[in-house]
Amino acid sequence: MKRVVIAGVSGAIGGALATRLIERDSQTSVIGLCRDPEKAPEGLRSHERSAVLPWDAEDSGSPATVAEALGSLLAREEGIDGFIYAAGLLHGPDLFPEKRVEDLNAGSMARAFAVNATGFGVLTQALLPWLRHREFKRVVAISAKVGSITDNGFGGWYAYRSSKAALNMLVRNLSIELPRRCKPIACVSLHPGTTESALSEPFSQSLAKLKVHTAEETAANLLEVFEGLVEEDNGRFLSWDGSELPW
Ligand SMILES: NC(=O)c1ccc[n+]([C@@H]2O[C@H](COP(=O)([O-])OP(=O)(O)OC[C@H]3O[C@@H](n4cnc5c(N)ncnc54)[C@H](OP(=O)(O)O)[C@@H]3O)[C@@H](O)[C@H]2O)c1
Repeated sequence: MKRVVIAGVSGAIGGALATRLIERDSQTSVIGLCRDPEKAPEGLRSHERSAVLPWDAEDSGSPATVAEALGSLLAREEGIDGFIYAAGLLHGPDLFPEKRVEDLNAGSMARAFAVNATGFGVLTQALLPWLRHREFKRVVAISAKVGSITDNGFGGWYAYRSSKAALNMLVRNLSIELPRRCKPIACVSLHPGTTESALSEPFSQSLAKLKVHTAEETAANLLEVFEGLVEEDNGRFLSWDGSELPW
């Protein structure tokens, strides 16, 4: 049995990833994490091979609570085979992508960093005891192309861009440390492609000229990359079609 932890299963992409994994492979179990487990897809909440645990990226005590709950479901020696971080924040009641430097707000920046970057780092830390076994493991952060420093030709979206760049740096750092401690492993950043979701909804008009995928299409694309990962991919920034993106 393969075991995969997915953070952000109440979201479009995280929910579709979890649902697809559980439905198509009878040898995979999924442990989903999200703020409100009631918001996870019904097919995940009721499935015998899945569990949904509460987790909030803005609560610093949450990773320890997740580790405790996971410990009662799964012995550390059994381990997990994959961790996908699919939580993310672009806009909210008091948060909207900044157009110019005057729009910067310390509170919005802190929230974006907590959800888009720090959450991944501290959850990986909490999951470390389950990543120590000898089988190959995949640790994947769902990032965004707009988090690429090299590719940034437009500016704006300060909190989102900089927090995704920070997420990418966490991936690079972990891709150096994890192979020393949890070999064999690959830790990568993955751009999902533009996808219909609550996160992208306010921008649907300006996205009309781009190829926009449904969450189900994105999940299929991402799982193809996820399953194709090998140790040599460790430390890469990949797009949904498997192509390489610049950091
Ligand atoms: N959609 C796109 O076009 C696109 C493009 C590039 C990258 N991405 C990235 O893809 C990932 C998934 O996005 P999506 O499109 O599926 O968006 P989504 O449907 O809005 O899902 C966002 C997820 O993040 C969770 N989240 C937000 N704040 C949280 C917090 N404080 N603690 C824990 N979870 C929190 C949400 O939980 P709640 O349900 O509790 O709010 C939800 O599960 C994100 O990292 C996003 O940046 C998306």
